[in-house]
Amino acid sequence: MRVKYSSLSFQLSRWDYSNLTHMKTVVKRNIDKGVPLDVQFNDIDYMDLEKDFTIDPINYVGLNQFYEELHAGGIRTIIILDPAMNADNKTYQPTITGIAEDVFIKWNDGRLMKGACWPGEVYFPDFFLNQTQKWWARWIKDFRTVHLTFDGLWIDMNEPALFGTNEAAPWNWNYTGSNYTLKCPVSYWDDPPYRTKAVYRYDTADAHFSRLSDHTLCMVAPQGENRLYRHYDVHSLYGWSQTKPTLDALQSITGKRGLVLTRSTFFGSGQWGAHWLGDNEASWHDLKRSMIGMIEFNWFGIPFVGADICGFDKIPTEELCTRWMQVGAFYPFSRNHNIWKTPDQDPGYWSDNAVQIMINALNIRYTLLPYYYTLFFKAHTLGDTVIRPLFHEFSTDPKTLDVYLQFLVGSALMITPVTDNNTNEIDVYIPSRDWYDYYNGKQIKVNKETIKVAAPLDTIPIFLRGGYIIPTQQPANNTKYSRQKPFGLIIALNSKNNAHGELFYDDGDGIDTIEQKKYYYATFNWHGNLRKLTINVIENNYLDMKNLKLDTLHIYGLNKKPKTMFVNKKHQVKYIKFKPKTKILIVKKLNLDITKNHTIIWKN
Ligand code: GLC
Repeated sequence: MRVKYSSLSFQLSRWDYSNLTHMKTVVKRNIDKGVPLDVQFNDIDYMDLEKDFTIDPINYVGLNQFYEELHAGGIRTIIILDPAMNADNKTYQPTITGIAEDVFIKWNDGRLMKGACWPGEVYFPDFFLNQTQKWWARWIKDFRTVHLTFDGLWIDMNEPALFGTNEAAPWNWNYTGSNYTLKCPVSYWDDPPYRTKAVYRYDTADAHFSRLSDHTLCMVAPQGENRLYRHYDVHSLYGWSQTKPTLDALQSITGKRGLVLTRSTFFGSGQWGAHWLGDNEASWHDLKRSMIGMIEFNWFGIPFVGADICGFDKIPTEELCTRWMQVGAFYPFSRNHNIWKTPDQDPGYWSDNAVQIMINALNIRYTLLPYYYTLFFKAHTLGDTVIRPLFHEFSTDPKTLDVYLQFLVGSALMITPVTDNNTNEIDVYIPSRDWYDYYNGKQIKVNKETIKVAAPLDTIPIFLRGGYIIPTQQPANNTKYSRQKPFGLIIALNSKNNAHGELFYDDGDGIDTIEQKKYYYATFNWHGNLRKLTINVIENNYLDMKNLKLDTLHIYGLNKKPKTMFVNKKHQVKYIKFKPKTKILIVKKLNLDITKNHTIIWKN
């Protein structure tokens, strides 16, 4: 998908802020404490009785005004929209118009198929129908125009997930189970001759043999144009079928690239949406699993992925949340989110020490945003992964097959988080030569070996791979401001003293910037033996790029400080220093026009 630049930032969410006052308190404490924050979410509690396209008239009065304040400070907003529409056909306009326009999933005889979900008894739109896509787009547009100026949409429960299948009885919060007599009639599609073991099992809690339709719609439901399919045929495509119409609707109203976050995906969903890994728990186990999920979704072509940071269900300890914020800072989709009725867990909620550690990790993420963005450009145009397991890059080394608690961001960066409590040191597998400690520049002089790495609570170990150049930009409290800061390059040399990298950049939210070539693209090459760094601009059609400078270089792997350094043979570089106590050479104050080609040469 075309990732919006601001969506690559840190995002904050929870179910059940309870009211706008509390939501404002949470946002304020994070801003006041300096937590980088770009996107603020609202979960179903902003709605009136969990109904889409409504706002709670008691607890969320003034929500839109708050959104305007957030926008003024560069923070974007995302709201949840569930597909299930409350079955009230007397007063609830989305359902009244939906019935009139024939958008809902029905039985063969034309009766609407009921289910139970957050707003009680519900009907499910059939997104395979053109009329449904139009109806959905119109309601999104109306709601945004008249009520709430959101920037992105979060679509959930779109497996589709139901609490009760074919329930006629009203469902409420005290609901304890399904009335199975009301469930789907026996049919070829609901009781097929060959059932997957995962579905056909004895459900001890509900004392019955589970059926395909459990917690979803009856498989017999006809769907699609001329109702040619059964829900059985297209069940796994429900979220997929909702994602593109939602993105199209969003982009046609805003005129900008949009973020649609979806829980249900299928192959191809990655063209249109981001994905979070669903309802996890605040446990070390789920922190570990998040890395596996993230890697898998990159294989599935859905690279914009992350898990609920600090865990959705259950209550995290400060240590777990701190460690999770450290690893979550490197998820492509980086959002802290939790379930209702639990305490807050946003960074600003924790002790000063913890919040500072979280900010430090996020600042590294923000520094690396141009690198992530370039990786997403390649994911979009070439199908590359953004997050990779080690064995993608080191496929001939069988030892890498078992490494799942380390991951690569592109080819150049390895993240090795702490995933257990009370841990100050971790084992890290080094898959090749020429890796460097991100923080102190130390070269890791082993090859295909596991080493011990210090990892006190304030540190998430990160390694840079020799041979690569990573584009950076100075961090700020959100991308509106970080996008105005100077660029830098992290240059990590390989054993031949070379390194290569690239940068893709554009306005961050134009819809067709690639098709219209309205972007900037440059390559960087460090030739150690020729004592030369070249900056080659390949595409230069993002006009605002001329306002941005390339200002700093951080070079890993040099033993000696160059005596002199010249830009384009003319200007001598004044600021060249080894960072105190580290082996990182820093070149500052270059002030280079990044839209021009440059050659930097030096003498030893
Ligand atoms: C689902 C979602 C979760 C959300 C909740 C309420 O459980 O997975 O993220 O908070 O519904 O909308």
